[in-house]
Amino acid sequence: MTTTGSNLALVTGATSGIGRAFAERLAADGYDLVIVGRRQERLAEVAAAHPEVEVRCLAADLSTDEGIDTVAEVAATEPLTMLVNNAGVAHYMPLADLPAGKARELVNVKVLAPTLITRAAVAGMQQRGRGAIINVAGMIAFSGPAPHSQMPRRAVYAGSLAHLVAMSQTLSAELEGTGVRVEVVCPGVVATEFHERQGLDLSAVPRMSADDVVTAALRGLELGEVVCAPGVQDSTLLDTVFQADLAAFAGQSPELAGRYRRA
Ligand SMILES: NC(=O)c1ccc[n+]([C@@H]2O[C@H](COP(=O)([O-])OP(=O)(O)OC[C@H]3O[C@@H](n4cnc5c(N)ncnc54)[C@H](OP(=O)(O)O)[C@@H]3O)[C@@H](O)[C@H]2O)c1
Repeated sequence: MTTTGSNLALVTGATSGIGRAFAERLAADGYDLVIVGRRQERLAEVAAAHPEVEVRCLAADLSTDEGIDTVAEVAATEPLTMLVNNAGVAHYMPLADLPAGKARELVNVKVLAPTLITRAAVAGMQQRGRGAIINVAGMIAFSGPAPHSQMPRRAVYAGSLAHLVAMSQTLSAELEGTGVRVEVVCPGVVATEFHERQGLDLSAVPRMSADDVVTAALRGLELGEVVCAPGVQDSTLLDTVFQADLAAFAGQSPELAGRYRRA
């Protein structure tokens, strides 16, 4: 593949919702694109809408090793300036009811795929001294302590988002000074096909637009944010969470804590 522009972005889950909004915005900004998803007709639709840039459609199922390896190979060999790991499913369900195949699919799409595709992309970005990696997680990453009555059953989904937050924060620190930036985006509820695809009607719930999520993610990168929370007005709320994380981390010692000692 030869690219016409100087910027090339790979976007997973570009057939609908947030990923499609990323693809549309980046194309409007002059990026050539590699767009990934399973629905080939949707990929072709996005490509046809953007003749002004080069768009390569890559049909791949990121719940499979083969699909992940195909996309990782492209991420390793193409000179990406931006990688958007966005594809996802939630499969809200009590854990005992969640079929093993759905749990595996979720972990493959939301944990294994972004991990291996990022791993594949990062060496080239470091060599070129520039690049941006955007991982789409969600505010549910921070919902672990919530009482169960308030939230959908989501143990695996929440865990997968928390993986993306911790991986992005850690990798961002690891890549300091290399010219490669890492951001994790944590939207709340967004108006996409995400919920209806799992049989949930959230049309009555106030929802952010996918376009606003993309605006926040790209502006957040400019602001140097590692964790971007498009719907959180007071950004000190997140800073407080991360300072508390570090305080707890620093509060450990090799000594068994007193409360665990038998009298
Ligand atoms: N909507 C929300 O309220 C919300 C809130 C917070 C975070 N998020 C996150 O935002 C991301 C995008 O979701 P969305 O809201 O835009 O939902 P969406 O409209 O359902 O889009 C999901 C995208 O992921 C792709 N995808 C799903 N399974 C895949 C697979 N096995 N292989 C390849 N691609 C796959 C879909 O493409 P194909 O079906 O064509 O494969 C589609 O393009 C998700 O990762 C989700 O965790 C969403």
